[in-house]
Amino acid sequence: MNLMNKIYNDKEFMKVASPILDHKEFMKTKAIIHHGNTRYNHSVRVAYASYTLSKILGCDTKSTIRAGMLHDFFLERDDKNIATETKMLIKHPTIAKENAIQYFGVNEKEQNIIEAHMFPISSVAPKSKEAWIVTFCDKLVAMCEGAGNAKAQVTMWILFLVNFIK
Ligand SMILES: [Fe+2]
Ligand SMILES: [Fe+2]
Repeated sequence: MNLMNKIYNDKEFMKVASPILDHKEFMKTKAIIHHGNTRYNHSVRVAYASYTLSKILGCDTKSTIRAGMLHDFFLERDDKNIATETKMLIKHPTIAKENAIQYFGVNEKEQNIIEAHMFPISSVAPKSKEAWIVTFCDKLVAMCEGAGNAKAQVTMWILFLVNFIK
């Protein structure tokens, strides 16, 4: 069974994820290429990886799934232009948060998970264990998907880990 089938067969995960997955507005992310795949599939993978870790650590799986699903909920396309792409790298968590409030009424905890997912690039820091889980899993999944160049990924990880040391 491949990973996507495993995810779609997980009843506990799907109970929370389905209303988002099947929503007309969220479905639009299926048409957007992100990390060499669709933004829709990337979001499902991040949500599932985060949910798995969240469950192991005894965290709030419902908010982890909802915010994991919605962390990249924006419809602007990835850009080849470095200047535009860098701007979007910083701006997109806030756009995703606003969209998530508008279409799914996410709570405050979920809002922070979404807005802090690019930490340490984002100015907003993770405030909960669930937010740390999603920012960690987003990087992990993006790396497996082969996002960006190796140098950028390594820099991101170093910045991320330095936050635990200082
Ligand atoms: Fe993102
Ligand atoms: Fe992401």
